[in-house]
Amino acid sequence: MDENINELISDLRTYLEYLKGMGITTLPVADHVPEKAPPSEALTLADVKKELGDCKRCKLHRTRKTIVFGEGNEGARLMFIGEGPGYDEDVQGRPFVGRAGQLLTKIIESINLSREEVYIANIIKCRPPQNRNPEPDEIESCNPFLMKQIRVIQPGIICALGTFSAQTLLKTDTKITALRGKLYELEGIKVIPTYHPAFLLRNPERKREVWEDMKKIEELLRSP
Ligand code: URA
Repeated sequence: MDENINELISDLRTYLEYLKGMGITTLPVADHVPEKAPPSEALTLADVKKELGDCKRCKLHRTRKTIVFGEGNEGARLMFIGEGPGYDEDVQGRPFVGRAGQLLTKIIESINLSREEVYIANIIKCRPPQNRNPEPDEIESCNPFLMKQIRVIQPGIICALGTFSAQTLLKTDTKITALRGKLYELEGIKVIPTYHPAFLLRNPERKREVWEDMKKIEELLRSP
């Protein structure tokens, strides 16, 4: 290494002496050194959360208690996306912690994963009053942040829970009964819609179909 530097210095000296011999005794030096572009650091979930801030982009901020950003593993291979926070989620600031959430936890565990290993988010991050359906302007305001979360996590598979999640992610108005269990794609990520856990609480006889969808997901996760 030292040898290389000595050689470089010697070459430089020879070159400068050559220039001197040519009558060139000064060298132009840029008086403005252009700033280096900052290294393009990858976005993190913390960056997305910071950008979201104390969001007031839609009317739901007036009635919500807490923004439910999402939680789980930033490097998850599997992401669950529900509809929006309910009462318990709004109080606790965490997704899927009420009765439907407890069922989702069981669904996740049915394929030998834990909540900590996956990432859980919703189409909208604030509870609609009286748990009404999310409105198009609310979905539209929230969607850029969900998409950023998806791009940070880059899961292999997204399991879309219920009508709003599946229809929003897949930009379709096809019914969930027709969408569920089939494989779709969003920005190179596999998307499998299934029924929402809250729907299963009201219609337990549909659990078998969700079980089948989860088996499909488990198999996809097994393949590299
Ligand atoms: N239902 C949802 O869609 N999301 C939650 O976080 C809770 C219930």
